[in-house]
Amino acid sequence: MLTKIWKVDPAAENLEENAAIREAAAYIRDGELIAFPTETVYGLGANALSDDAVKKIYEAKGRPSDNPLIVHISDFSQAERVARSIPGAAEKLMKAFWPGPLTVIVPAADAVAKTVTAGLKTVGLRMPQHPVARALISAADVPIAAPSANLSGKPSPTEASHVYEDMNGRIAGILDGGPAGVGVESTVVDTTQDLVTILRPGGVTREQLEAVLGKVASDPALKDKKAQPKAPGMKYRHYSPKAPVELVSGGLQELKQAVARAKETGLTVGVLTTTENANVFKNLADVISVAGTRADLATVAQGLFHALRRFDHYDLDIIFSETFPAEGIGEAIMNRLNKAAGSSKNDGME
Ligand code: TXA
Ligand code: MG
Repeated sequence: MLTKIWKVDPAAENLEENAAIREAAAYIRDGELIAFPTETVYGLGANALSDDAVKKIYEAKGRPSDNPLIVHISDFSQAERVARSIPGAAEKLMKAFWPGPLTVIVPAADAVAKTVTAGLKTVGLRMPQHPVARALISAADVPIAAPSANLSGKPSPTEASHVYEDMNGRIAGILDGGPAGVGVESTVVDTTQDLVTILRPGGVTREQLEAVLGKVASDPALKDKKAQPKAPGMKYRHYSPKAPVELVSGGLQELKQAVARAKETGLTVGVLTTTENANVFKNLADVISVAGTRADLATVAQGLFHALRRFDHYDLDIIFSETFPAEGIGEAIMNRLNKAAGSSKNDGME
């Protein structure tokens, strides 16, 4: 299949009338797959009301069929077509954080394709903020099911070129709206329990959720590696470059020593670091990938997946990574880094 690529300026007026977006929307309506930018990462979209269209997502990604998809909408009225009911807590969160990087798990309506929910009675709903995503959904005039637009197991794409690397020849087209903003995926919360529960940390922080709801719970699987995660995708290996990743806690000295020891044994070594520390590795590591600035963890979130993907352009034996405080956006960063380092009990992939 020939994969079309359209460049779209997210700041342009009247995006719904944009020729590229109209063409991409027509593909969605015809049951084809279109990759598009969101404010978190690039998504791989299909008509959420068509089983045949949604099946193609699983094929293109090589995604296990037990892993449900998030449905993306562009206005609040669409939520009623996709959800059977909207719990009070979900409504509060939608008002506070939509459009934005938050996915609420709610009871699913019958109209949602069974392949979207992977047989669950619930569905994940998200209203993205990115103007290109919103224009595509409105122009298609159907809710759009979309996982991250990477091959299963790989880091999520934050630029159109990442999507191209993974999906060229597998999908109808890619809307290139420049780099995604937040860099890590949406926060997934279950609103069908008494206490709203974080299933995947992401772009909306725990602190932000608590400011709206008071206390929120965490899926025990986020801390306990033996527990079964409530978000099926969280059990899979994910975000991993080809070479093994080792997180080095402690500080810069510990990381420097780990790199030096590996070099002494003749290994080819990559290091995932920050602008503050990159210089230290100049004559030490073979490949240095800078995620962002420690002083502003939002920049680390933005650059994390690009930094991880870069390592695959080289032939490395091992990658050592800095670690970050698991607070604010740091919680999502550390969750992704832990997965990249292979801390999952299943061998499958998301
Ligand atoms: O930021 C994002 O959320 C991006 C952009 C494209 O919107 N999408 C994304 O989708 O990250 P995906 O498929 O890569 O991750 C969705 C996660 C998976 O871990 C999946 O298992 C979980 O959400 N999920 C989806 N529906 C669920 C449900 N009904 N119950 C529990 N977990 C669910
Ligand atoms: Mg994903």
